[in-house]
Amino acid sequence: MFAGPDIGGAGQRLLPERIPMRFFGTAVACHVLAWLALAVAADDVAGFVGGPGPVLAGVHVLTLGVLVMTAMGASLQMLPVALGRPAPSTTACNVTYWLLVPGGVLLVYGFAAIAVTFIVAGAVLTVSAVALYVATTARVLRGAEGSRPVVLHLWAGFGSLAVAAALALILSLDYTEGFLPDHLRTAVVHVTLGSYGFMGMLALGFSQVLVPMFTIAMVLGRRLAEGALWSAVAGLVLAVVGLTLDLPLVVGAGLIAGLCAAGLHVRLMMETVRTRMRKRLGEEFVLIRASWIFLPVSLVLGFGLLLDVLPDTGPALFGFALLFGWLLTLLVGILQRILPFLASMHTARAGSTPAAPSKLIAETPLKVHRRCHFAALTVVGAGIALDVPDLVRAGAAAGAVGAAAFAWFAVTIFFRTQTHLSAPTAEGKGKAP
Ligand code: HEM
Repeated sequence: MFAGPDIGGAGQRLLPERIPMRFFGTAVACHVLAWLALAVAADDVAGFVGGPGPVLAGVHVLTLGVLVMTAMGASLQMLPVALGRPAPSTTACNVTYWLLVPGGVLLVYGFAAIAVTFIVAGAVLTVSAVALYVATTARVLRGAEGSRPVVLHLWAGFGSLAVAAALALILSLDYTEGFLPDHLRTAVVHVTLGSYGFMGMLALGFSQVLVPMFTIAMVLGRRLAEGALWSAVAGLVLAVVGLTLDLPLVVGAGLIAGLCAAGLHVRLMMETVRTRMRKRLGEEFVLIRASWIFLPVSLVLGFGLLLDVLPDTGPALFGFALLFGWLLTLLVGILQRILPFLASMHTARAGSTPAAPSKLIAETPLKVHRRCHFAALTVVGAGIALDVPDLVRAGAAAGAVGAAAFAWFAVTIFFRTQTHLSAPTAEGKGKAP
């Protein structure tokens, strides 16, 4: 049995709040843009099988703008707290951010306009941001005292990101030099490492810290956690080797190991939730639980692609279930809980009476977001499966409305925090120094 994070003394391990808020604020804005990009590219979504153009641009607004931004903000801020390590250097965090934002803009523009110079420039900057981020988080992880499965998940995630980013650079240089024997195969390995490797390992590892924290529970199953870890690592290695060497049986073994990892992880999470001390689960668990369904769904679709039993829209449906269904649904669920939590910690650190996280939350935008998010997943999924671009457009528009509501929720937290900080305290003092 091992406990959740030790948040005692978290104040000394927290970064200045403007750093995580910058990452999260950018992710919240890109969340709206990612759905809008899907609506704009709706005609080409169902038939997408790779290659630059508006769909790939939209994919990277989501992957770099929302998923990687959120993962960076969360790990730079929460890892030192969860693992009892000093906060990383603020310069490294700032440089990472200021490389990633212009790099992401150049890359997305380059993909949308099919402009190779912009793609290469964007790739150089984003890959530099990733390299600095991996080096910075590796320093936090080295010598960490936290639970072994969590730490190993994170190492696997950061290792995967480093390789995914190196492949991304090679893929973008290949547009001009044409040296790769199989560009598409390399792109598929890049996606596997970026999504299941980096985002997936972080999702599994962080969930073992955050879900017990959200529910006030002890994580019971160390063996389950170790099982999920090693199945996920085996699945990833087998999938990458199989895809690289064109060995379908090895890819299949990787998918089976991935499904085992997903099953063990979901069992661990359900066990954690079942043994919680907090009676009423927060609404974020509607999203978090839905993400537990989309993870195995994406792997089953991966099997369908491997066996070549899916229609031509199979690759797009797989990508949508993986990126929007599993990863985005999980991240918005987690963000809706940690944004008010971090804001509340900030009010405490600023010397004011801490604001209760529940007082910083506006429920209506969250409800609007949830409904639109699920409507968008259903309608876009149906639009891709049936190859009806108007359905994809309508669903993506619903997703954009939901994402705008989520942004309204985030802005409300910001203004309520400011109001709390500027309100006179019980002792009659004004704004805390
Ligand atoms: C480190 C920054 C990144 C750069 C510079 C980058 C760049 C690229 C490039 C050059 C391609 C090849 C496009 C092609 O010719 O088909 C690509 C494909 C793709 N990338 Fe990234 N990428 C990055 C991060 C990510 C991450 C973190 C994810 C997932 C979480 C991701 C998901 C995808 C997807 C889904 C494709 C389409 C693959 C296909 O063609 O089947 N990328 N990326």
